[in-house]
Amino acid sequence: MLDNNLFHYTGTTLSCDEVNLEELAGAFGTPLFVTSARSLIASYRAFEQAFEALPHFTCYSVKANYNLSVIRTFAELGCGCDVNSGGELYRALKAGVVPERIIFAGVGKKPEEILYALESGVLMLKAESLSELKAINRIAGELRKKASVAIRINPDVTAETHPYITTGDSKEKFGIDEAELPEVFALFRHLPHVTLTGLDMHIGSQIFEPEYYVAATTKLLAILNASKDMGFAIEYLDIGGGFPVTYDPLKPATPVRNFADRLIPMILPTGVKVIFEPGRFLVANASVLLTKILYKKRNHTGKEFFVVDAGMTELIRPALYQSHHEVQTVTRHEKTIIADVVGPVCESSDFFARHREVGDAEEGELLAVMSSGAYGAVMSSNYNGRLRPAEVMVNGSEVKLVRKRETFEQLVQNELMEELE
Ligand code: LLP
Repeated sequence: MLDNNLFHYTGTTLSCDEVNLEELAGAFGTPLFVTSARSLIASYRAFEQAFEALPHFTCYSVKANYNLSVIRTFAELGCGCDVNSGGELYRALKAGVVPERIIFAGVGKKPEEILYALESGVLMLKAESLSELKAINRIAGELRKKASVAIRINPDVTAETHPYITTGDSKEKFGIDEAELPEVFALFRHLPHVTLTGLDMHIGSQIFEPEYYVAATTKLLAILNASKDMGFAIEYLDIGGGFPVTYDPLKPATPVRNFADRLIPMILPTGVKVIFEPGRFLVANASVLLTKILYKKRNHTGKEFFVVDAGMTELIRPALYQSHHEVQTVTRHEKTIIADVVGPVCESSDFFARHREVGDAEEGELLAVMSSGAYGAVMSSNYNGRLRPAEVMVNGSEVKLVRKRETFEQLVQNELMEELE
């Protein structure tokens, strides 16, 4: 069972909440991202409930799904945002998130992004290097402001997940090395335009084992103690995101409560306020990517293919991380076949599933690629001249178009060529 999954069969047709997916495809075309607002809300509530006992503040990591309506859904529940660029900050503000609830991260912030964050009045910026700390100080000085800064520490904990999404290891580019901390504290003492307000970490994504959080938090708490002894009043301990979801019902995710059960007793006695930055956990299972079967084919080895109208340009996760996504036929089929579900892009990595048991659907029927809400639409591209798909949000029986399908004109709108002028 996928977590907080509001996609279910009503009779023989797959529905999102109270809306039939076939009707949605008819009204909006395919490929189409369909998001359940109720599922977003249920995931947020589950997260909040798990960490209820700990004074904390949750900042949705908008990189997972930055659609304005998704951000707004969380903002209306009192959730803040973690942003990683000027563009994400722009989106968060546009969606109505108040700056005091936004934290600004990123390993390579440009001066203009630092300026934008400071001018907007975000809660804090995270510094990921000594040079960046100096840059924040300089820009804050030009604005005659004092910047609230958290230091992102690289705790040197290698969380077991896909190697492309582990971030707390000293091999990786993220955060400040512990060995540099004396210099960091010294800088905070004499740079006039920065205040140290937080310690921060993010050890990776889709982490199943609470032990990695425990190991990294232990390090952060020791640094918190040491900084108190040095006279710093640190308000926030930012644990980052990374909490797992179930993509494959045969590999269920560790419940978020198990993480809470380990972390709460460690942190509660310190009295520090915790920030969490869940992305995937809040959105992954709230969306499906709806796609139409264009062609079925079978090769001389007997291998079957469903060629569908969505591909790696809409959901790159299987190609990039070999990640598993369930594929369901929108019309329920008793008879199944073993097939590859592949897209129209000219790359062999353009697949959603390989050698998978799928309902024996006909050409023209619909498939739903499940758990597509996190790092789906946001990682989409125009490769092969493909148009980014439309996105709809369902709430009960209500349906809202929350992103229009791109057009051919939009594909070339920023290009300059004499004959076009
Ligand atoms: N905070 C920071 C500083 C991050 O870098 C990230 C994710 C998060 C929070 C949210 O992590 P989450 O709770 O979603 O695991 N594209 C990859 C995932 C990349 C994650 C990048 N950073 C994927 O599709 O699996």
